[in-house]
Amino acid sequence: MAKVLIAYATRTGQTKKIAEAIAEGLKSEGIEATLENINKIKSAGDLEGYDGYVFGAATYHGEMMGPMKTALFLVEKAGLKGKVGGAFGAFGWSGEAPGRIFDTMKNIFEMDMVSGPLRIKKVSIGDGMQKAHDYAKEIAAKLG
Ligand SMILES: Cc1cc2nc3c(=O)[nH]c(=O)nc-3n(C[C@H](O)[C@H](O)[C@H](O)COP(=O)(O)O)c2cc1C
Repeated sequence: MAKVLIAYATRTGQTKKIAEAIAEGLKSEGIEATLENINKIKSAGDLEGYDGYVFGAATYHGEMMGPMKTALFLVEKAGLKGKVGGAFGAFGWSGEAPGRIFDTMKNIFEMDMVSGPLRIKKVSIGDGMQKAHDYAKEIAAKLG
């Protein structure tokens, strides 16, 4: 069974909700999904043993949340080249974080990324959940 780590940075819980919906979607595709708050990722070793990685952060002041920035330096050391990847986040109006995470995973870590980042403005409405489930399907398809 393929294993995916979903790690998120959130302040008010919206990005966690997206993470949970992606996890649900992956599980329904027969993939083992592990959810972690990014604060729990303390070393590159904590990132070992997964086939895919999905990182998410909310956008504040035009940027991804600080703990995700710090974590991406750890991810750099983990050697995830060729692993399946995706990025997501809740936002209010500009939503820079998911794109920045996605581009870093693609260009620096050289991961096998899905078609683009997942940005959700209103997580609570059904459409937001559906988008997260669809994103999970895309990740699952890449994992074969
Ligand atoms: C002080 C503050 C600054 C924010 N800055 C931005 C921003 O620059 N761009 C944006 O799209 N949303 C911004 N937001 C909106 C949050 O991204 C949005 O509320 C999001 O759903 C929070 O996700 P979270 O619950 O995962 O923390 C800001 C919110 C606050 C309170």
